[in-house]
Amino acid sequence: MDYAENILGTIGNTPLVKMNKLVEDLPCLVLAKYETFNPGNSVKDRMAVQMIEDAEADGRLKPGGTIIEGTSGNTGMGLALAAIVKGYKCIFVISDKQSKEKMDILRAVGAEVVVCPTDVEPDDPRSYYSVSKRLGEETPNSWYVNQYDNLSNTKAHYESTGPEIWKQTDGKITHFVVGVGTGGTISGVGKYLKEQNPNVKVWGIDTYGSVFKKYHETGEFDEKEIYPYVTEGIGEDILPENVNFEIIDGFTKVTDKDAAVYTQKLAKEEGMFLGNSAGAAIKGLLQLKEQFKSEDVVVVLFHDHGSRYVGKMFNDDWMREMGYIE
Ligand SMILES: Cc1ncc(COP(=O)(O)O)c(C=O)c1O
Repeated sequence: MDYAENILGTIGNTPLVKMNKLVEDLPCLVLAKYETFNPGNSVKDRMAVQMIEDAEADGRLKPGGTIIEGTSGNTGMGLALAAIVKGYKCIFVISDKQSKEKMDILRAVGAEVVVCPTDVEPDDPRSYYSVSKRLGEETPNSWYVNQYDNLSNTKAHYESTGPEIWKQTDGKITHFVVGVGTGGTISGVGKYLKEQNPNVKVWGIDTYGSVFKKYHETGEFDEKEIYPYVTEGIGEDILPENVNFEIIDGFTKVTDKDAAVYTQKLAKEEGMFLGNSAGAAIKGLLQLKEQFKSEDVVVVLFHDHGSRYVGKMFNDDWMREMGYIE
């Protein structure tokens, strides 16, 4: 018989899928690392379990403890699944710009969800960074995960996602393209791939309103780059420890409108029903056209599933209200 011991045993070993219509104008092979096949429907299951297991191992997380995190949803899902299997409680702090589906889904898997305003400074006591830190201090037998600075996040991708991509492409990958939020995915996968072949190029997808691209290019943390944006999952107004700028060759920024429109295109033209950061990633990849030659093998990673965006990018009324479609 062939079965997993519990749901956590099904994380990883996701498929690599060739992209067709949307990349017709590119000279190279484009392959999608399709992370919605994870049980929580996102890549974040990998790092959630890694962060929990590392915290168990060194005693930060104790039996019956409460896991506290500021999460935009996907990390919360991964943490919640692991918490159910391993017997922990979860409190998640989420910003009010996140889709309602994401909040409902977290509650469905037993988590307590606290909603905070998006439009405040990170050090404001109402911000989701501050609230999650405070809850971590006030709740007995709790552990504050901090996916931004917790390096088990990068480690998960260095140990699983990176080796899978290398093996699935038979070592032929030339470019890795991925959206950057906490930085765990790009830094872990990028480090592993560059250790196998230093010529692999690693490109990050950023959004307007985020500091990453300018910081990478100039070394300056420019507060003028920061303003509210619609795209979910990528871009930051802080520099997380998990973003290893040295292994990143460059960033390209994608507009909110393009990210939303390309989220729809992925579903309608490739049959890939994916989240908003996947739309940003594929549009960013198309913006990088000049980088690619005919023999190249480009891998783009898609983080999460379209079901979490049915009230937004997959709702034409919302798309019209935002001015993204006619
Ligand atoms: C939907 C989505 N896309 C992209 C990202 C960015 O991935 P990472 O945090 O590994 O940089 C995240 C993580 O926050 C996410 O939830």
